[in-house]
Amino acid sequence: ATGVARGADGQLAVQGIPVSRLAEEFGTPLFVLDENDFRARAAGFKAAFDAAFKDLCGGVDVYYAGKAFLCTEVARWVTAEGLRLDTCSGGELAVAAAAGVPGENLSLHGNNKSAAEITRAIETGVGRIVVDSLDELQRVTRIADALGRQANVMLRITPGVHASTHEAIATAHEDQKFGLSILANDSGTSPALAAVARALDAEHVNLLGLHAHIGSQIFEAEGFAMAARTMLGILAQIRQIHGVQLGELDLGGGYGIAYTSEDHPSTPVKLAAQMAQVVSATCAELQLDCPRISIEPGRAIAGPSTFTLYEAGVRKDVQVEDAAGTLHPRRYVSVDGGMSDNPRPVLYDAQYTAVLAGRMTQSDAIISRVVGKHCESGDIVVKDVYLPEDLAAGDLLAVPATGAYCWALSSNYNYLTRPAVVAVRDGEARLIVRRETEADLLARDMGV
Ligand code: LLP
Repeated sequence: ATGVARGADGQLAVQGIPVSRLAEEFGTPLFVLDENDFRARAAGFKAAFDAAFKDLCGGVDVYYAGKAFLCTEVARWVTAEGLRLDTCSGGELAVAAAAGVPGENLSLHGNNKSAAEITRAIETGVGRIVVDSLDELQRVTRIADALGRQANVMLRITPGVHASTHEAIATAHEDQKFGLSILANDSGTSPALAAVARALDAEHVNLLGLHAHIGSQIFEAEGFAMAARTMLGILAQIRQIHGVQLGELDLGGGYGIAYTSEDHPSTPVKLAAQMAQVVSATCAELQLDCPRISIEPGRAIAGPSTFTLYEAGVRKDVQVEDAAGTLHPRRYVSVDGGMSDNPRPVLYDAQYTAVLAGRMTQSDAIISRVVGKHCESGDIVVKDVYLPEDLAAGDLLAVPATGAYCWALSSNYNYLTRPAVVAVRDGEARLIVRRETEADLLARDMGV
């Protein structure tokens, strides 16, 4: 995050607040969120895409993907910065409602939305329900008919792009669970075009446009460009078949961020310019009016804004044999959290780094592995990182870029309590999500 720097005393500080003070006041493990940084990234996406698309379609609607990290404060920040909010469950809709986000600013995603979720979305006047399948379109149609109210619908299409990212988070190729395929099935039509026809026919469905999300943690603009070209092609096809041009095209999220110095993400300004160029050229080629474009970044807004502050505990030194039979030292440094507050290394082989946060040292560095306190050997936070040899129990460690899909994916494995989230704004720290307590852990246990 931009507000993080070493102070004169050698400690990491967020907007001038030293980490030792944060640890003392709020405990560890702790998610430390630079609110100014978060908001600047949110506003930066909006400004960059608005500028690039202004002359094409008047601007871009940016939906912050709440799944990356959501609480009422965050929902209010993005709203204040001119963004909308992408939700994907009744729970996320509840957070949005508690934050006072207007219904028309919301979208609802999900490949298996319940009848209750769909009903709630229609009743709260959600701006768009992103319909994922033919079955779901039928479900939405029935519910809207029964309520006698309009459902605003986008159709999620799989444009057939196989994004170069981890298999578990690539979402636009054929063989995965999301979206309507554009490939013809046995009856000679594609599920995507069949859904368009049915949606246009349905009395209580207001078909706004199409949606595609190719995956997550993507660095090359080429994937987004391919998706944009394919989707505009489908809009042209729909115009030819039905004589209508749908007004909106959502190109999803997925913009990659730097977790370590090996990652070199693009900037929103560059991405926006590249995408606008492709959209503009394709629209000209197909003689389409440029649809209103929207995007759904999550990670690129939340991820870099936050680091996790851990307290180091025990160490263990081992000798590791390499392929040539040579022995190398490796140090295991255990911290007071682990896979319960950051399961990404375990799930996606995600790489992180760590730094000694509470002080400076002249000590030599030793190749170290930062591990958690859970009862399994796969509980790794940082696989390989040089840390000072004199790092010892009680030292504070910071793991950067944990703002997206860490707290959101956190669990109570081994009955650990989920960490607090502290936001630092204009030099002041305040709790935005409190740490769980043991009472929370026991609250649903009916035998207590
Ligand atoms: N839109 C849709 C429809 C999505 O499914 C997602 C993410 C996004 C937008 C936001 O993508 P982002 O800009 O944050 O990459 N737990 C995984 C990531 C799962 C992404 C799920 N969908 C991880 O920790 O890497």
